[in-house]
Amino acid sequence: MTIDRLMKTLPAMVLVWALLGGAGGVSAADLGDLQTVGSWDQAAHGIWRAQLGDMTGELRYSDLAAAPPKMDVLNQLPEARFPFDPNTITYRVSPDHRVLVRIPTDPNETLYGFGLQLDGIKKSRKVMTLNVDHWSRGGGRTHAPVPFYLSSRGYGIFFNTARFLKIYNQVGNRKDSQRNPPEVDRNPPLDEPQPGPWLALPPGDAVEAQINGEGLELMVFAGNHLLEVVQRYNLFHGGGALPPLWGLGFWHRVHAQFNADQVREELAEFKRRDFPIDVIGLEPGWMTKSYPCTFEWQHKRFPDPAGFTQELLAQGIRLNLWENPYISKQSRLYQSMYPLSGSHLVWLGLVPDYTLPEARRLLTEQHHQDHIRIGISGYKIDEVDGYDFWLWPDHATFPSGISAEAMRQSYGLLMQNMLNTDLFKKRNVRTYGLVRAGNGGASGYPFVIYSDAYDHGEYLTGISTSSLCGILWTPEARSARSDREWLNRMQTACFSAMAQLNAWSSGRKPWSDASVTDAVREAIQWRMRLLPYWYTAFADYHHRGIPPLRAMILEDGFGGGNDLRPAGRLGGGANPDTARERIEKTDQYMIGPSLLVAPFYEEQATRREVVLPKGRWYDFYSGHPVGDGETITVTSKALKDRIPLFVKEGAVIPLLSRPVNQVDQAVGHALEVRWYGKDLGRFDLYEDDAQSYDYERGESKMRRLRVVRVEGGGYDLEESVEGDEAISLFGPVERFRVMTE
Ligand code: GAL
Repeated sequence: MTIDRLMKTLPAMVLVWALLGGAGGVSAADLGDLQTVGSWDQAAHGIWRAQLGDMTGELRYSDLAAAPPKMDVLNQLPEARFPFDPNTITYRVSPDHRVLVRIPTDPNETLYGFGLQLDGIKKSRKVMTLNVDHWSRGGGRTHAPVPFYLSSRGYGIFFNTARFLKIYNQVGNRKDSQRNPPEVDRNPPLDEPQPGPWLALPPGDAVEAQINGEGLELMVFAGNHLLEVVQRYNLFHGGGALPPLWGLGFWHRVHAQFNADQVREELAEFKRRDFPIDVIGLEPGWMTKSYPCTFEWQHKRFPDPAGFTQELLAQGIRLNLWENPYISKQSRLYQSMYPLSGSHLVWLGLVPDYTLPEARRLLTEQHHQDHIRIGISGYKIDEVDGYDFWLWPDHATFPSGISAEAMRQSYGLLMQNMLNTDLFKKRNVRTYGLVRAGNGGASGYPFVIYSDAYDHGEYLTGISTSSLCGILWTPEARSARSDREWLNRMQTACFSAMAQLNAWSSGRKPWSDASVTDAVREAIQWRMRLLPYWYTAFADYHHRGIPPLRAMILEDGFGGGNDLRPAGRLGGGANPDTARERIEKTDQYMIGPSLLVAPFYEEQATRREVVLPKGRWYDFYSGHPVGDGETITVTSKALKDRIPLFVKEGAVIPLLSRPVNQVDQAVGHALEVRWYGKDLGRFDLYEDDAQSYDYERGESKMRRLRVVRVEGGGYDLEESVEGDEAISLFGPVERFRVMTE
């Protein structure tokens, strides 16, 4: 289905290289058992793809993308050429149904990415197994092991096939390679000098990746800098997700066994304590049976689901429902889903094959009837990741004929695709929810990945790594061993894609630690005040492919943006190691065009270092200059227990003029616009109805906010509007603040 759609959008763009025997190519003698990729199709401006082997029975991640490629935006990106000699990519399809591909790398080339990895952004010199799984398995197995990597030479490679992928990143040396390092004697006599130190892991000169399958689609994404490569990847998959505004408010998941009255009491407590709240997440106890699930309301806890949902909506509170996909015998879907499900059960529940239209119809009709029709806003899709012993075995079969392996790699994506498309988009309603697995081509889905892991430093790393591969991630807060840890975790959550407290087991409240209650409230309030800025950051994700939260390697002035190319010319000083450490830092990250966030994150941490990119930076709260390209130390004392937040030279930041306790109050709310530094800056504030897909028909506008010098001295803010003037989301600018005097 989607391939047809894809092909329609790619007219007349097929570019075929006459590669075999081309000048400068790798000669057949060099290739051993490998062959060069015969032809590359230009899939879009700066994007090429090649099919290795037979793809007819294989599933591509891009076929499951939320929307077709944004060709018009891709075509407006700067010119980009194929980033290296295409003759150098070689492959082999073996009779035993394996595909191997080999992509040469330079000795000083560094690789980043491979999905939501929590142990660091740099993935050179590593062997990885890219299987969907719980994070705790490591070695590449994770909730979103997206087979997409970025090279420091300024390109990206995507293995666009839903198969387990074993990948050797610059590990291993072929005997016929011309670029192996010299052999070194490990135990030489003293008078025999060696060409260098003996290395346990001699550097490899390629990425070698292997799948079990008949075919593999390889894609190359070019870019003049790494952010442009990521933009192309996201735009090819339909752009990024644009959540409804309410999704960017504060989320609280209550204890798994709460009933309607307990939820009511909890909400009253939020009010009494003056804490923002937008979404309540109900955990498994809302259902008659869970693990496996019925998807039907437990009337002992929720006697009147429709009345309850409407009562909350009347207070501006949305409900989000937890579910896992495995269907209980007690569910009214069981009988009809039985023939449409796989050979094996999960927690004794059926595993529906959601590549089948009938299975999709059955589930979405039931969900509409029981949930959406009464006002439920979305879902948290649990348990679509692992472990091997919990989910179906690799030899399971599915009625559509899709392999168990492809199903495992794509089940989280399939669920997102089905719910988003068949339940919400179909009714012109936006949703925002959670999912525990994703994979390639997912950028357009309004679902945020979460985990049962809980290392705060790793959670921060996830913000950076997810930004490279079209994935949204929440470092949700669940519990803490100290007041300080609680504050640090809540602050990180508030500066992420989803500001969520998940109390499903701990029963925690934002105010559970009295000594930091005010500081926690203030963190949530900043989240709320920054809603105009957040919403535009997501609009940039959707329309331009720019991730709303970004790893520092994507940032100019940090050695990772424009200054990354040519290879080896890393920014940040003469010592290349120091420069690399700078750009690979993952305990700080960017939000939107100009905010740098550096949370405190060790259990008792109240002090940390922040590495500033080149260019002048300012303290968000005071507007004072803090540095230019250097490493600074910040303390929670000096910041009055607020999260460290820095702003780029010339930045213009729109916020609500006062804190609100609900996103609904942000609509029409007056703005404060802050300006930092000396350069006359601007901000294009995006607005639409923030709840439907009408923006796809042009129902949106851009408020262009520009700082100007006024005659006779001083500065002012000028505003002009482009687009549909009738649209209005936020209120007028009430206050313009010059932050740096
Ligand atoms: C876990 C999930 C938790 C919570 C719990 C409920 O699998 O990661 O966030 O939803 O299930 O049983």
